[in-house]
Amino acid sequence: MAISLPPSGWRSRPALIRSAIYTLGLLPAVISFTLAFTDRLGADPVKTLEHDLGTMALRFLIAGLAITPLRKIGGPNLVRYRRAVGLLAFAYAVLHVTVWLWLDRGLDGAEIWKDLAKRPYIMVGMLTFLILLPLAATSTNGMIRRLGAANWQRLHKWVYVAAVAACIHFILAVKAWPPEPLIYAAITAGLLGWRTWDAWRTSIVPRSLPTAASRTPERAPTV
Ligand code: HEM
Repeated sequence: MAISLPPSGWRSRPALIRSAIYTLGLLPAVISFTLAFTDRLGADPVKTLEHDLGTMALRFLIAGLAITPLRKIGGPNLVRYRRAVGLLAFAYAVLHVTVWLWLDRGLDGAEIWKDLAKRPYIMVGMLTFLILLPLAATSTNGMIRRLGAANWQRLHKWVYVAAVAACIHFILAVKAWPPEPLIYAAITAGLLGWRTWDAWRTSIVPRSLPTAASRTPERAPTV
């Protein structure tokens, strides 16, 4: 029987969708930086850049957390794209922190330490970033193999802590109660609540009966 191989340069549909997610996902950053460097980002371009990049990081973090519930309630199965969404969250967090370090604080060590010590929201932002670092660093297939699926999954549960910390950082940063940070906090709380309920629900199912979750293992990285 003849085996037909795809033509060279052929890319599978998921690979194309993944490329589209990265390209479209990074587009807001390109637009924000272009506007900032051409002086079209308002009166305080650094602050606006920090806002835009920080909120994009949080949006992608939340989108990554929503992928499993979406599948379990009968929506599309986007698990294979979760790594891309998580890495986009991390990329935006890196850009957000870089803008703060470089454009806001001018890479001045004393200023940076002063801000960290004086402003709790900066400390919480740093904590969030430190949680995201190992998640991004272990997002490759090689790292999943090296850590083992169970350890890897345990480590990647920290993405929930990162999302909660990012919401607290947002609420503390705005120093008031506008609806935006509260909406993100409510969505994160809902997703965390759903995860807790789902873990409890599957734990009371007798272990001998395979659950839907155990039949379809999820090993796609969160970040
Ligand atoms: C070292 C770590 C971080 C630092 C120093 C930092 C710093 C800042 C600063 C200076 C602001 C602007 C506050 C203002 O309006 O005056 C801000 C806002 C924000 N940050 Fe961060 N951040 C960090 C990490 C993160 C991470 C990891 C995330 C998300 C995953 C995040 C999400 C946000 C959000 C959503 C805002 C609110 C945007 C606004 O309305 O200003 N930040 N952060």
